[in-house]
Amino acid sequence: MSTLQKALVLPVKQGTFTLQSVPTPTPGPGQLLVKVHAAALNPADWLVRKYGALVEKYPTVLGEDIAGTVEAIGDGVQGFKEGDRVFSQGGFDGLHAGFQQYSLLEADITAKIPPNITFDQAATIPLGLATAALGLYTPSAPEGAKFGSARLAAPWEGDGRGKYAGKPFVVFGASSSVGQYILQLARLSGFSPIIGTASLHHTDYLKSLGATHIIDRHLPADSLRSEVGKITSKPLELIYNVVPLPDTQEIAFDLLAPSGCLVTVIPLAKAEYSKRVVRVFGDTYSPAENRVVAVSLYKALHGLLAEGAIRPNPVDVLPGGLDGIIGGLERLENNAVSGTKLVVRSQETV
Ligand SMILES: NC(=O)c1ccc[n+]([C@@H]2O[C@H](COP(=O)([O-])OP(=O)(O)OC[C@H]3O[C@@H](n4cnc5c(N)ncnc54)[C@H](OP(=O)(O)O)[C@@H]3O)[C@@H](O)[C@H]2O)c1
Repeated sequence: MSTLQKALVLPVKQGTFTLQSVPTPTPGPGQLLVKVHAAALNPADWLVRKYGALVEKYPTVLGEDIAGTVEAIGDGVQGFKEGDRVFSQGGFDGLHAGFQQYSLLEADITAKIPPNITFDQAATIPLGLATAALGLYTPSAPEGAKFGSARLAAPWEGDGRGKYAGKPFVVFGASSSVGQYILQLARLSGFSPIIGTASLHHTDYLKSLGATHIIDRHLPADSLRSEVGKITSKPLELIYNVVPLPDTQEIAFDLLAPSGCLVTVIPLAKAEYSKRVVRVFGDTYSPAENRVVAVSLYKALHGLLAEGAIRPNPVDVLPGGLDGIIGGLERLENNAVSGTKLVVRSQETV
């Protein structure tokens, strides 16, 4: 293994991505060094570059979804060996990052990839699934904090599977990467009906993930509301909005029962709401309550994937290795990605 590797570096805040040689890191205590075989692209990557959020130190490397093989193991790590196929989420510190050929991972939030899942598929999972899971199942998320959760019991722990049987669930943005994982978790939790909004050509696929009803996301607001009402007359106590539009959030809020919880991916528009509204932070590293849930989820993930209870997003592999990322991020920014996850194979970089 070379002491230098290729990485797509963001040299300064709101700068221009540049392919560079950077040092290959050495794993510290509790860490793994992984040869990155597949990394997925996320809206966060273009948002960070354009607006400068989340990253404190530059130059940096982004990439929140990482799948590869273990190359070296830090002190105190148990349960992993060199050559293991693994996946994990990247952070925003430039070292735990997918847009490079070698990345550090934290062993407690890393899972082995079962044989039925490819590297490309595994790379679609970390941020999307974490966002879905943390927004639903972080029991110790403090009330009134910047980020929150519906605080449900997780379906991969104890008697959590099927716990919410008979309760309706609505997700706005069901065909997005995060939305696909929300559907699958809602199914594991037992919710029914599970209603999603999406482009209708995704209906059969989204039903295979757990949706019982898909409503055309292009309908006007009044029709979206009335279509949900035609499917269930029960109080809607849980709605997850993955669409980054205040108008959609407003529709979701209108539908929410007075005692319900709306989970959303975007900043809250108001300081106070008459019903519970929480914004998720899909980060497995922090705050501490997220890490607790993430450790528990990553322990269960190999089994959930092997049994098919969680399936990865459909993959769209971009050519050119790390060079493919810039064009892929433009597609994400232009809303030109529908129902798939864009993935690059870092080792194919010329
Ligand atoms: N807060 C956090 O920690 C966090 C974490 C992860 C993601 N996010 C945010 O969550 C959002 C989703 O992320 P992602 O990676 O899942 O995105 P994505 O997969 O790139 O989302 C693309 C999908 O959005 C759907 N969509 C667009 N407008 C819609 C609308 N008005 N109604 C319903 N669906 C609509 C499209 O549906 P169709 O193709 O069916 O038309 C498409 O499949 C992004 O805004 C992202 O920044 C936040």
